[in-house]
Amino acid sequence: DTGLITFDPGFGNTGSCKSAITFMNGEKGILRYRGIPIEQLAENSTFVETAYLLINGNLPDRKTLTRTSVMLSDFSLLHEDMKFFYQNFPRKAHPMGILSAMVNALRSFYPELIDLDEDLNFTFLRLISKVRTMAAMAYKISRGHKVVYPRPDYSYCANFLHMMFDSPVIPYQMDDDLVDALNVFWILHADHEQNCSTAAVRVVGSGKVNIYAALSAGISALWGPLHGGANQAVIQMLESIQQEGLSIPQVIAKAKDKNDPFRLMGFGHRVYKTYDPRAKIMKKICDKVLSRCKHLDSLLNTAMELEAAALSDAYFQEKNLYPNVDFYSGIVLRAMGIPTNMFTVMFAIGRLPGWIAQWREDMLDSNQKISRPRQIYMGENIRDYTPIDERP
Ligand code: SDX
Repeated sequence: DTGLITFDPGFGNTGSCKSAITFMNGEKGILRYRGIPIEQLAENSTFVETAYLLINGNLPDRKTLTRTSVMLSDFSLLHEDMKFFYQNFPRKAHPMGILSAMVNALRSFYPELIDLDEDLNFTFLRLISKVRTMAAMAYKISRGHKVVYPRPDYSYCANFLHMMFDSPVIPYQMDDDLVDALNVFWILHADHEQNCSTAAVRVVGSGKVNIYAALSAGISALWGPLHGGANQAVIQMLESIQQEGLSIPQVIAKAKDKNDPFRLMGFGHRVYKTYDPRAKIMKKICDKVLSRCKHLDSLLNTAMELEAAALSDAYFQEKNLYPNVDFYSGIVLRAMGIPTNMFTVMFAIGRLPGWIAQWREDMLDSNQKISRPRQIYMGENIRDYTPIDERP
């Protein structure tokens, strides 16, 4: 429980990375943000409050929380010139590629000093607020719809749903249950120790590049189907199971077949060797959102049958493979009306405060050095240059 962890950049050279932000115990399925259990935050907090906790180390008092919410609202507009970027992306461009580019472009529009002082807190809030506007704008423009501007009287999550789904033809009917579900969804995704994308942010940030470029690297790392792209891959897996008429035993057999590249998406984890505590909470939101939307999603039944079969199968038990946060998250997002290609973007919006907190932790560490993984050389031994006419 010391929170001291070994950071293995994956090159076989294990450094050690000390962090005071998030504690995980993979054997016991424990997750705490700044010491507070994820279950209590999901039950009692909001995404904005949890973001403040991760970045600043403690829960805000009422005055600070109110000021933070007002500033997030003030920062929610994008520079009008940024809209031209969107108009030049192909309509089918994946929103994760757009988001990574747009976050990097923020540096050009907000070139002010970003030293570790008050300005930096403005930068953090500007990023957390604008990433939501960028995501909704990508969705609207991809559909050829008019961009919807944020409203100053809406909360962080309500504004996102408003910007995504409001339209001059059918105004969006704000739904507090969905706002609550979205708060919990983003709380569950807010940080997760030294995962692939957070490690990318820290590695890129260690070269002292600006925070926008470091976060853009994190968004790119998250995009992969083995990481943040898994929520989209779970839905595609469930849909193909139904379309191909595969039985649950057939799917389990495919997942176990070493000659079949198929993996049970949303299952397994590098750290959790038991049920991901976030997946348990996500499953509860699933039931709540689906019953709220009176939306029977047959994919949920398939997912639950698949989970039951896998959890009772010796292969999955021996390899400690359990549902992770992505297994049910896609079904929650579908019920909210979020399009599948935006699922990983939703993960990125949630993870942003965690990336910022981890980047800040490194920047505040005066002993912090550039990340420079080493390797185990497996190549040729020393040999001489061969002139081209003498080569075989
Ligand atoms: C996230 O790190 C984080 O914290 C990430 C994350 C976060 O919040 O940032 O939690 C978010 O990325 C969650 C993971 C989402 N990805 C998926 O759901 C994709 C499906 N899962 C797998 O690809 C896999 O489980 C990984 C990528 C998550 C982990 O891969 P590893 O490191 O290979 O898993 P492992 O070492 O525990 O695997 C042990 C064995 C292996 O077989 P053997 O080599 O021992 O024969 O289990 C097998 C694996 O092949 N295995 C699976 C499997 N996951 C692992 N077999 C079938 N289906 C699976 N899903």
